[in-house]
Amino acid sequence: MKQVVRQASKADRLTGFVPTMGALHEGHFSLVREAKRQCSPVVVSIFVNPTQFGPSEDFKKYPRQMDRDRAALEQLGVDYVFAPSVDEIYPEGFQTSVTVEGLSERVEGRVRPGHFRGVATVVLKLFEIVRPNIAFFGRKDAQQAQIIRQMTRDLDLDVSIQVCPIVRESDGLAISSRNAYLNPQERKSATVLYRSLHAARQTIAKGERDAVQLLKTVREVIATESGVRLDYAELVDADTFEPAVRLRGNCYLALAAFVGTTRLIDNALFEEQPDGTFRVTV
Ligand code: PAJ
Repeated sequence: MKQVVRQASKADRLTGFVPTMGALHEGHFSLVREAKRQCSPVVVSIFVNPTQFGPSEDFKKYPRQMDRDRAALEQLGVDYVFAPSVDEIYPEGFQTSVTVEGLSERVEGRVRPGHFRGVATVVLKLFEIVRPNIAFFGRKDAQQAQIIRQMTRDLDLDVSIQVCPIVRESDGLAISSRNAYLNPQERKSATVLYRSLHAARQTIAKGERDAVQLLKTVREVIATESGVRLDYAELVDADTFEPAVRLRGNCYLALAAFVGTTRLIDNALFEEQPDGTFRVTV
């Protein structure tokens, strides 16, 4: 892969890269399309990274559909698909990892210890193999994107990070490979994540700025679905992911919830405007 991309990279064009774990869907495709719009060649990696899954998480049952993924990427005009084996990425004796201190311990990192270390380590390796000029990430995993940004800054990596909007189903559910685990009843209940973000947005439009009150709105909406258990709802600063007491500047409202046994995440971005109102992006 190193040889191939180094030969294919063009002096007058940008190499684009979209790292994924496969089971590709419209969320991934939106990143690929944006990469194609700006870059040539475009490289997509498919690697279900064992080090970012906790011992009781779904590494084994994570959906794998390489043939379908490869065909879809070919349709989209992707130049190279990089799908290494676990042994190629983590050969025997592997012992180095990357931890973005602080950021990795908050919010999603607090409930999934080691998760972001696994993510940062594999992404750094993939960056070094592919050497992209631009790497594309989804805002669906806002904290992940922020951690990668921080890593590129801290380690002086020559790659710019672009974060693309969340792609949702028509009823608002953020598209995720894990939605495949939901049965029809759970699939219906799962829209409550989006509905709770929407409720928070309405509360903000009425002038509420207090984090406790905003999160109360979210919790109340989630509680209307008996099959859904909130893991966390947090209002955090968009750069540091430290808890915000009041909505100000740029904040994420970040959520994780179990729908049955499936864990889903979602978020909304609130950006303060000069007139004191908030631009809301879900
Ligand atoms: P994966 O979950 O496959 O996601 C790959 C990329 O697609 C991530 O940047 C993610 O934010 C983005 N994405 C997923 N669903 C999306 C949606 N509905 N809308 C927009 N973007 C979406 O994230 C990972 O893989 C891994 O952690 C990885 C970065 C590949 C490292 O192993």
